[in-house]
Amino acid sequence: MRYRIQARQLLLPVLLWIAGLASAQQQQPLSKAIDAALNNAVNQYKYLRDHLPPGVMPKTFLATKKLETSGSSWWTSGFYPGSLLYLYEYSKDTAMLNEANRRLVLLEKEQFNKGTHDLGFMMFCSFGNANRLNPSKAYTDILVNSARSLSTRFNPTVGCIQSWNARNGWKFPVIIDNMMNLELLFWATKFTGDSSFYKIAVTHANTTIKNHYRADHSSWHVVDYDPETGAVRAKQTAQGFADSSAWARGQAWGLYGFTVMYRSTKDKKYLVQADAIAQFLLHHPNLPADKIPYWDYNSIDIPATYRDASAAAITASALLELSRYTDAKKSAQYISTAEQIIRALSSRVYTAAPGENGGFLLKHSTGNLPGNSEVDVPLTYADYYYIEAMLRYKQLKNK
Ligand code: GLY
Repeated sequence: MRYRIQARQLLLPVLLWIAGLASAQQQQPLSKAIDAALNNAVNQYKYLRDHLPPGVMPKTFLATKKLETSGSSWWTSGFYPGSLLYLYEYSKDTAMLNEANRRLVLLEKEQFNKGTHDLGFMMFCSFGNANRLNPSKAYTDILVNSARSLSTRFNPTVGCIQSWNARNGWKFPVIIDNMMNLELLFWATKFTGDSSFYKIAVTHANTTIKNHYRADHSSWHVVDYDPETGAVRAKQTAQGFADSSAWARGQAWGLYGFTVMYRSTKDKKYLVQADAIAQFLLHHPNLPADKIPYWDYNSIDIPATYRDASAAAITASALLELSRYTDAKKSAQYISTAEQIIRALSSRVYTAAPGENGGFLLKHSTGNLPGNSEVDVPLTYADYYYIEAMLRYKQLKNK
């Protein structure tokens, strides 16, 4: 009986999904395909909500059909509420808002977490969006406290916020991903008038340009510093194919991060940096025709290895923003690449059928292949940046 009700409830979304994907494949205008994808996403996230135990956040769905969850202190905890808020913004479906609010309560205590650099991801993707849609003192207090907690990890001698605590022989490891946590600091300066957050973000970004980037504008994953002298101790990888390789998601974080740097400071050097990263990625000989990168641009197993849909989604969202700042030729190139990525992600290859994939939207992301963790799976952040990219595309076209 329960199965029959569920099957009936799923029938309409399945039919709409098939119709949406079929017409997407007939190259209907992308904005129409995006509406179909976003409507599908609202239904799919209701499925995820209905299968998610209370008190936790979703992480991924394993091939064994097991939903993996996390507590609020895991770095991805802000993406599920953030995606729900984006979907609420699009659909005005209060089921999305109610579920976001239920999960935001779990995250509140992380505003005082000084043991992670991931507070930008965790708090700005969640409470940042909540405050953007429904400004409130409760949200701004949480965001300011989060920015203060994040700032305690800044070391002025190094000129960076420490990513991970000392481990694996590293004393002060900084990962390229950390560029994504700076947006919270810019927000905090704007809101409080205290320029110290801004200065930390700019110093971190400048140190990152100097030490994380290679001559070809690809990036190392981890740079380890001596916290006493600021000297670079090592340049390595943790999640990439090799120390010298271009780990796909790291490149996407850098592209997005330097685009935010330009938006927040209007300093041309960050635009130059973001453009250079984009050119490295878009001209890379190992970038497949559908523009969904392999998990590492330099994996020796290409083409017989995994893609990373999350890196593609982050890249699409970043390119759409960057297209607003750069010259006309690059702008057209960035929009066209983002369009290709969104179309590919919205196809049956990457988008799950309703009720499949544990309720996540996208298949085929790679979390940490060397660690044999989250390989060829759905991930909350792939969904988050995919939804963000689609909303950005709609905004761009509505202008
Ligand atoms: N640390 C974030 C990531 O795996 O991309």
